[in-house]
Formats: sequence, structure tokens, C-alpha cells
Amino acid sequence: MAVPPKVASRAAKLRAEIEAHNHAYYVLDAPTISDAQFDQLFRELESLERDYPELATADSPTHRVSGEPASEFETVTHRVPMLSLSNAFADEEAEAFDRRARESLGVKALDYAVEPKFDGLAVSIVYERGRMSVGATRGDGYSGENVTGNLKTVRAIPLQLPRQAPVYFEVRGEVLMLKRDFAALNAALTEKGGRAFVNPRNAAAGGLRQLDPKMTAARRLTFFAYGVGAVEWGDEPPPTTQDALLDYLAALRLPVTTQRAVVRGLDGLLGYYRSIAGRRAELPFEIDGVVYKLNDLGLQQRLGFVSRAPRFALAHKFPAEEMPTEVLGIEVQVGRTGAITPVARLKAVFVGGVTVTSATLHNEDEVRRKDIRIGDTAIVRRAGDVIPEVVRVIVDKRPKGAREFVMPTRCPECGSKVVRLPDEAIARCTGGLVCPAQRKQALLHFASRRAMDIEGMGDKLVDQLVDAGIVHTPADLYKLGVAALAELERMAEKSAANVVTAIERSRKTTLARFIFALGIRHVGETTAKDLALHFGKLDDLISADEAALLEVRDVGPVLAQGIRQFFAEAHNREVIAQLRAAGVHWSEEAPRRAAKGPLAGLTFVLTGSLPTLSRDEAKDLIERGGGKVAGSVSKKTSYVVAGADPGSKLARAEELQVPVLDEQQFRKLTHGIR
Ligand code: IVH
Repeated sequence: MAVPPKVASRAAKLRAEIEAHNHAYYVLDAPTISDAQFDQLFRELESLERDYPELATADSPTHRVSGEPASEFETVTHRVPMLSLSNAFADEEAEAFDRRARESLGVKALDYAVEPKFDGLAVSIVYERGRMSVGATRGDGYSGENVTGNLKTVRAIPLQLPRQAPVYFEVRGEVLMLKRDFAALNAALTEKGGRAFVNPRNAAAGGLRQLDPKMTAARRLTFFAYGVGAVEWGDEPPPTTQDALLDYLAALRLPVTTQRAVVRGLDGLLGYYRSIAGRRAELPFEIDGVVYKLNDLGLQQRLGFVSRAPRFALAHKFPAEEMPTEVLGIEVQVGRTGAITPVARLKAVFVGGVTVTSATLHNEDEVRRKDIRIGDTAIVRRAGDVIPEVVRVIVDKRPKGAREFVMPTRCPECGSKVVRLPDEAIARCTGGLVCPAQRKQALLHFASRRAMDIEGMGDKLVDQLVDAGIVHTPADLYKLGVAALAELERMAEKSAANVVTAIERSRKTTLARFIFALGIRHVGETTAKDLALHFGKLDDLISADEAALLEVRDVGPVLAQGIRQFFAEAHNREVIAQLRAAGVHWSEEAPRRAAKGPLAGLTFVLTGSLPTLSRDEAKDLIERGGGKVAGSVSKKTSYVVAGADPGSKLARAEELQVPVLDEQQFRKLTHGIR
């Protein structure tokens, strides 16, 4: 059926109007109609296209959401890498940037194109013969994810460029969410009982990475173009300045910010920086600084790049926002490794784009150094995705009853002793296996391949077992039955049975694996082996005092203390007893002290005089390391250690192809022997 001319022209008019309204809303920040009026135009166009399918061109605004949800994103390699920008915070750094550029180019003053630094996500959009073909995230700069379907839902991005566009045209810019769309999204989310996003950037990032474009469309993202990637320019001469390039992008109806300018010299840069900083709150989108780019594209080329950032551009960032608020309390949090971190509970304050109610205080010394007390007025800072922190407190505002923080002596999670080793900044819970905050981590470690090797005991399962209160300690694993496991999420009878079999199998193990599985601080696989070899029996290790532990190779005072503390904790001994009762066993061998030492089995011959070690000192080191010293070189000699005036032994070594070490190499080999 032929489309009546009247209908065709109405459809064309609607399309143009819709695109114009998109531009007014997203680019000019000056919508001229309401959302409801916009929707009405949109629905009218949809219904015309339904009645006359010939009208439905691929670049129609009604075709922004299409395609099936993806199962994952494909990788796109950028023809031209997407680089990053060098950052500056202080005026002096901007001054140095301008000076270096002038000196390198040998000119008195330079013109700069200056732009806001959008706080969103960099993307690349390729147009082929004017039609949008591929849209991708920045990724690692060399390749990103193909998010074409999602970018098509961004109404500010044209699906079709005007006729004059080059055959191959890659535009680069930032996807972001306007502050008002962010506020509306969060209001809708919280009304439905959902969780609000912390800032527009996170909301935009989440939106862009939706597998279903419909979800992206619902997020209402926008886009600003700030440059180009790979372009095949064709006959017409390409722009020669950044400013002209942006004009060109705008002429192709790509959204370009109205906040840009061209300025001259350092004064111009800093003037722009200050004026944008002053207008930051009024801008419809969030920015985290401004970007300076040498305006002349030819000069840009001449300056080139350092590592991954151009020398011709600089991001001058705004300082992290700071706000005063009240310290309501100081609590401690127990991390997965038992680290006890003091955390300030704060009266809610909006800073750096998010509402902050707590801030990390890092450790006890930090609290003392900054003299932070409960009741104080504190200056809180937050920049980007960084965890909020307390910069300082206003001592003049300190109320009479302000209380000092006291590090608890017992873990708030499990009641175990809290200790802080003399040269460590961090206090730790000694609860180890029984502290709920550490339990999941400890269980995962216990079950890991090099420890008890329980296949199938991954983090999802451990999370469920601990959260449901089924497993408290590793010993509880040995009580699990197929029925209990099969009731958990994502656990079929078959996989439950497999896990139970793996648990069964792990009952028989080695002492070294068992010691490693306990998760004693600093006791890795090698130390666990050394301990097993040295003590032979678990009970001898448990009852070893510090002096006995120090005899083990590579065990120093810190490690010895850690081991002592672990076994001194009644909880830990109890868990070990339970594991044994559950049938976990290993063969207990007589300790092989003779074979210990990193040089065990090696024979050395010393010749000549070493620069710093005397002959006796060298011999002593070898013997303490478990090695032997011989008087003459033979085929059985492992190494000849040679100094000045070596004599015939060196010649013999070379003849027999025995490796020869100088003192430095010898010291490396014996490093750690005491
Ligand atoms: S130009 C070679 N201009 O900043 C440099 N980037 O650190 C290409 N950004 O990944 C980038 N606003 O996401 C440029 N007006 C602007 C920008 C901008 C924000 C982001 C962009 C890039 C990052 C570089």
C-alpha cells in the first residue's frame, strides 16, 4: 500500500521534531515541552509507522530500542587507542603544563580549547556512510565492549548523520546521566523499596552495561562528544583546531557542550577553571574538573604523547569536596583477615555527590594523630569513588563531653582477644576460625586446593552455609549431609553428593596441608611444610614455645608470635579438636631435623678471599643452612665459592663445569639463613 504523501510528510515532521526536542533536552539543557507532550509525539509516530511499515526507517527515533537482550558483550578493538589524560590539582601544575608546551614548541603564548571534564564514561561511536554502526566502551583503552544496542537508546546520539559526514567517522565522547534524570531515577527506585545509586556516574555505568537495551533506555542516559578517533576524511579539508573540530561535530548534529571556550595562556586556563568551578553546581551534569587541550591540532601532533597520555592536554581536577559534620560515634569493623578498623559514624552529610554517614579512620594511630573524638565536628572529604575520610576536626567546636576512642580489647564479632603487634599499625582479632567476619574467608581457605582440597566448596556455597548458620567452623563441614546441601540454592542432588564426597576424601590429608589449612597469619604453604617437617606431630607444634618455633627455618619473631597467638586462643584449639574428632587425620612422622635447611644436600668448596665474609663466616653460613663444606672440588661439588686469588680450585671447577659463585651470588643463595 502506497504511503499517502500527507502521512509521509507528517512522519518526517514528527521525526525532526522529536530529534529537536531530544537536542533541546540533552544538549541545550532547555526543554521546550513536557515529558508527556514528548511521549504524545512519540506515540503518534509509532502508530503511523505501524500503519505504514514502509515509513519505519532504521534511523527513526522509534527504533532506538531494538534487538534481543545479549548474553554477553563482544570485544571491540579500537582502531586508535583511547588514551587517558594527565591529571593536575594545583595551579602550579597547570602552569608547568603551559610552560612545557610553550618551551617545546618555542612559542610565547598558546591558545587552548577548554572544556568541562565530564564525570561519566568514555565511549567510541563509529558511523559508516553516516549510519551508526558500532558503539563501544573505552575498556582498557585498546579494546572495549560492544554496547551498540545500548548506545542506540541514548536519545542524544544521532542514529544517522547528515549527508556531508565522512564515509568512516569515529566520534569519541562521554556518556553520562543528567542530574535531574538521576534524581528521578533514585526517587523511583527508593519508592519501590530499591536501593538508590550513589551518584550519576555509577547509574550511567550500570545503565550502559545492561545486557537488555530496554533497561538502558529506562535509565535515560545522555552523551557529549569531545573528539574523534579513526576518521577517513575524504575530499573536504579536515578541521585544524580542536575548536573547529567541535564546531564540525556540532554541525553533524552530534551533541557538543555549550560550556566550552578558547582561551589564551595560563591566565586564560585558570580563568576558565575558576569560572566553571563557580558554575559547577548549576550545571545540569556532574563534572570533576576541566580539560585543557592545545587548540591547534598540528601543534598537538608535534607535542605527542608520554606513555598513555597526550602532552598536549591536561585534566585540571577540582579538589575533593569537603563538608563539616558531627562524629556521632566511633565503632570498629572486623575485616575478612581480622583487621580491626575504626570507623566514624557521622551525621548524614552530602559531599562529593553522595550522602555520607560513615568514614574510615584507618587505624588507632590515625585516630590519635588527627585527635578525632566522639562529638567532634569533623571535616569530611570524598573524591570520585574514594572511600570518604575525615580530614581533620575543628577543635574549637569540641563539646565538653567529647569522648576519646578506645580500641576494644575483645573482638566485637566473636569476643576473642584483639592484639596489635609492636611494629604493626593494624589491630587484629585473634578469633581466626571462629570469628564470623573471618569465617567465610577462613572456610574458603580451609577448603582450597592446596589446603584440604575440597572441590566444589566455592564462595557461593560458603556464603550460603555461613549465612544460614549451618556452618560455623571448618569442623562443621564434616557434619554436612547430601540432604542439607541439596536444599540450598543452586544445589542439585548430584552436586550436593559430589561436595559430600569431596569432603569425605579430604579427611585423609598431610600434616603440612592441615597446618596450612588452619589459616594462621603469615603461615603460607612453605612455612606449613617446614613446620610439619620440623615438629612432625601437631601437638608438638601446638605446645611449642617461641624459642622452639624460632628454630624452624625461615621462622622469625613475628611469625613465631603469630603462631603462638593462634594456638593460645582456646577457640582455635577447640576447632582442631573437633576436626580430629570428625576423623580428619594424617600420618605423623618423626621430625627430620637433620634434613632441614635450604642448603640441605649441597656441597660447597671455598677458594680465594671473599670481599666481606671470612672463611669461617662463610663455612658457618653453609652449615647452618644444612649444607656441607669440602676441601677439594669433585664432580659431587655443588658450588665453588670463589674470591680474589682463587688458585687451582677454580680451574678445576671450570674443568668439571661446577657452577662458580662470587660473594654476591653466594649471599643471595644463603639469604635468610641465620
Ligand atoms: S579528551 C587523549 N575531553 O577523561 C585524551 N576527555 O582521563 C582523550 N573526559 O577517558 C580524552 N571529559 O572519559 C577528554 N572534555 C573531555 C573529557 C574527557 C571527560 C574523560 C574521558 C577520558 C578521561 C581521560
